[in-house]
Parts: sequence; C-alpha cells; structure tokens
Amino acid sequence: MALKKPFETLLTISEEINSTHEIAVLLDRIMDSAMHVLESERGFILLKKNQENAAYETVTARNLSQENIDSIKGHSSSVVTKVLESHEPLISVNAQEDDRFSGAQSIVIQKIHSVICTPLLFKNQLMGAIYMDRQMSKSQFTEEALQFLSAFSAQAAIAIQNARLFSDLQRENKKLRSQISISERFPEIIGKSEPMLRLFEMVQSVAASTATVLIDGESGTGKELIAKAIHVNSHQKDKPFVPIFCGSLAENLLESELFGHKKGAFTGAGENKAGLFEEADGGTVFLDEIGEISMNLQTKLLRVIQEGEIKRVGETKIRTVDVRILSATNRDLEKEVKEGRFREDLFYRLNVINLKMPPLRERPGDIILLAEYFLKRFALKNKKNFKGFSKQAIHYLQEHNWPGNVRELENTIERAVILSNNSQIDADVFQLRKTEPKMPIGKTLKDINKYAILQTIEMTGGNRTQASKILGVSRRWLQYQLKEWGMVDEH
Ligand SMILES: Nc1ncnc2c1ncn2[C@@H]1O[C@H](COP(=O)(O)OP(=O)(O)OP(=O)(O)O)[C@@H](O)[C@H]1O
Ligand SMILES: [Mg+2]
Repeated sequence: MALKKPFETLLTISEEINSTHEIAVLLDRIMDSAMHVLESERGFILLKKNQENAAYETVTARNLSQENIDSIKGHSSSVVTKVLESHEPLISVNAQEDDRFSGAQSIVIQKIHSVICTPLLFKNQLMGAIYMDRQMSKSQFTEEALQFLSAFSAQAAIAIQNARLFSDLQRENKKLRSQISISERFPEIIGKSEPMLRLFEMVQSVAASTATVLIDGESGTGKELIAKAIHVNSHQKDKPFVPIFCGSLAENLLESELFGHKKGAFTGAGENKAGLFEEADGGTVFLDEIGEISMNLQTKLLRVIQEGEIKRVGETKIRTVDVRILSATNRDLEKEVKEGRFREDLFYRLNVINLKMPPLRERPGDIILLAEYFLKRFALKNKKNFKGFSKQAIHYLQEHNWPGNVRELENTIERAVILSNNSQIDADVFQLRKTEPKMPIGKTLKDINKYAILQTIEMTGGNRTQASKILGVSRRWLQYQLKEWGMVDEH
C-alpha cells in the first residue's frame, strides 16, 4: 500500500490534533487519524500514567477487546513489549512467519497478519505506544507506513504532553480558586474568625444592592474599612466614595459641607460651592458618626434619601443627586431614637441593612493575625526587620482586653516596632506605655535619646511643634531626626 501525500497528511493531522487540549478527545483523534491513514483494522494506544514506573494503560482502542489487548501486550515476546523495551518502532510485515514473535500466541490466535507499533516519546522519555494490526484477510503494512507512523507518533506525543500540562494547570487553577476563601476577597480587612467571616458574607451580598447600610460598632472596630469595602465591591466602584465626618463640625459648617452653599450665604462663603453630596453623585456617601448630627440636618438628610433632593445653603433651587448612603455610628441609635434625639423615620431609612462590627475581644482568634499583619506593615514602613513576636508578647496580646479594638492594636504594634531594637518584638515594649514615663535603663544613650523623643511626641498626642518646644529643639531638627528613623509622614 502506498500512502497518499504522507507529509501533507501528517501536517493536516498535527494541526487537527493540536487543536484540542481535552485529553480524551485528543487520544481518540490520534487513534482515528492513525487508523485512517494506515487503513488498519484494529489498534490501541498505551500510556503511562504520569508518575515514574507506573504501568501502561490502554487509553483508547478500536475493534479490540481488553482481553485481546492484554494477550497482545502481556507476552514477553510480543510486539508491544519489544517496542516498550527498545524505544524503537517495529513492523512485522508477515507476523505469522516472523521468528521474532514465534513465542507470541496472540499472533496465531488472533490471526494477526501484519503489525506495526511505535513508541510515544517526549524528550526521550517513553510515554507509551501506538499499536495497529491487520488480520489475515488484508494486505501487509509497508516500511513507508512505519516511517509515517514514527513521525506521526512524535507529533502525537507532543500533543499529549501539552494536553496533560494544560489539564494539570487547569486542575491547579481550580484548586487555587477554591482556596480563595471569602476573607481573601477583602485583602485589606484581616479576619478569619466566625463573626468576621459572617460579616464578609454580608458585605458581599449588600455590596451588589444600593440599599442604605448602617454600620455600628465600638470605636476602632473597622467601620470605615467596611464602608469602603462595600463601595469597592459595588457597581458604583468607579464613582466617588466620599466620607463625611459628622462629629466635629458646627452645624452650619456641616450643612455647607454636605449640601454646598451660595456665594455670600454666610460670612466666609466667598464662592459658590458644591457640597459633598453633589461631589459624590453617582457614587457613595459615607456618613461617619451619624449619631452626632442635629435634628435640623436630620430632616435635610431624610430629604436626600427619600427624594434625592438637596438645596445649597442660601439657595432655593432644588438639585437632584443619585448617591448611595452608608453610615456609621458607635452610639446606640435605637436608644437615641427612643430618647427623642434621633428621628425615627431617618433611622429606619438609614438602617435598611444593619452591619454590626464585632469588638476585638469577641474574636480573639484574629488578634495574632492582625498583630502579624501590622508588624509586617510597620516594619516595612520603618525599614526594620523582625522575626516576629516572642512567646510573652503573644501572650500579652492575647490576654489584653483591647477596649480601643483594632485601632488600639494597630497603634500598639506601631509603637512596638518603633521602640524595639531586638530581632523579636518582646512583651516589655507593650508594657512601656503603661509604666511610662519610666526611663529605659540599661539601653544605649542613642536608644534612650530616641525613646525620650518618641515618648514626648506621644505625650503631646503627636503634636510635633509642641513636642519640639518641650524637648528644647527646633521643629525642623525634630523632623530631621524622625526622618532619619524613617518615621516622617503626614505631620
Ligand atoms: N479587620 C481589620 N483589618 C485590618 N485593619 C483594620 C481592621 N479593622 C480595623 N482596622 C484598622 O484599624 C483602624 C481603625 O479602623 P476604622 O477607622 O475603620 O474604625 P472605626 O470603627 O471607623 O473607628 P471609629 O469609630 O473610632 O471611627 C484603621 O487604621 C483600620 O485600617
Ligand atoms: Mg470611623
């Protein structure tokens, strides 16, 4: 039998088999293509499972029972055994007369006339073999067929290897994806405790809606962090997120901040100015410390929520805005409502969804997780290196009650990073703040100097001008010193 255009055929087949990464489909295509070109009656492909020394398995077969395959490949003098041992292709034009297979019963029993078998080699590693035969009624395979099948097998081996790599990658990807737990979708928010995981689930589901959300919880529990997480996981994520701190401004200033003002509406209103609600149009407004706002502003806020309408201070014109409102409080708003300090209707409007931030002491499992996260962050910021916390330090962190919650923990770790000069953070740096201002006896003058400076800054609540006065140095000198220690930032 002469093959028609063998190399063109080979090219077409290679293209076809390379177009699939699905291993089962690929093996079927390889088998069918080989059978078709070589006009063989029966055939099978053997493959080794990935690991070394694994047995060869029949992965696809045509017109052959497993029993017949077993008898063909099982015998020590069979064609398949020889190919697998030698890594060389093999043809027997007339198998019945071939001395090489005189011991192989299968040849006789299965009336095999002509056999062809090639190894599947990838980078000299044996992956398996392709076997085909013709029974007595048919003509014999030719040397040309052997050449073709050898070239074809080389292509097939590459395709199989690629498909295997592809499926390994897919499996790996799937595994990795399933390992991304809900907490990892909020990379900025550390927490693996039950209450935090529940909170993440809630955040995930409320983010997609435009419902108003009231976040309540003690100071430092992460209310603002959660508000941001809701925004960045929402459909408005590309629109502004505008936080407004309602606690510290006088009523009329807050009103102008929120709603804007007309030029000349009050002393100091030099220009027409849009308020934060207008700025946030299309996005999210976060009203922090909502419990602090006056009755008058509560009424105006209700109007924004209900009608989407605002009026700048000093104007009669009504403007419309489309904003999502998130708010936070560490007061008991229900109590404020009962005692007549907070409008009930506004409370219900704000509180469509309620998220409660668990205090840190109720999720002790998160303490060390957070501490390690802050340690990494502040060590990097201060260009220092620590091997972690000592046993006593961990004990201290776990036993402390954390009335100031995560913010207190964050500050504690930052201070420890600044004050520590050991390779590990030890418990004594946490205690420093309790017994201050005790001098750190037994340290170098340089350390004592640094300690005194940092303690003074802390004593003044971070006011560096005041600290420099107390220390009797210029503010510039102090700034310079802090910069030396890598501690200059917003002040
Ligand atoms: N789960 C957390 N993971 C990482 N950092 C956190 C977490 N919770 C809080 N923080 C950090 O703690 C500090 C306080 O958080 P945040 O300002 O969100 O608290 P808050 O509840 O708004 O406090 P307050 O009521 O005092 O305004 C922030 O620096 C914040 O980044
Ligand atoms: Mg806050």
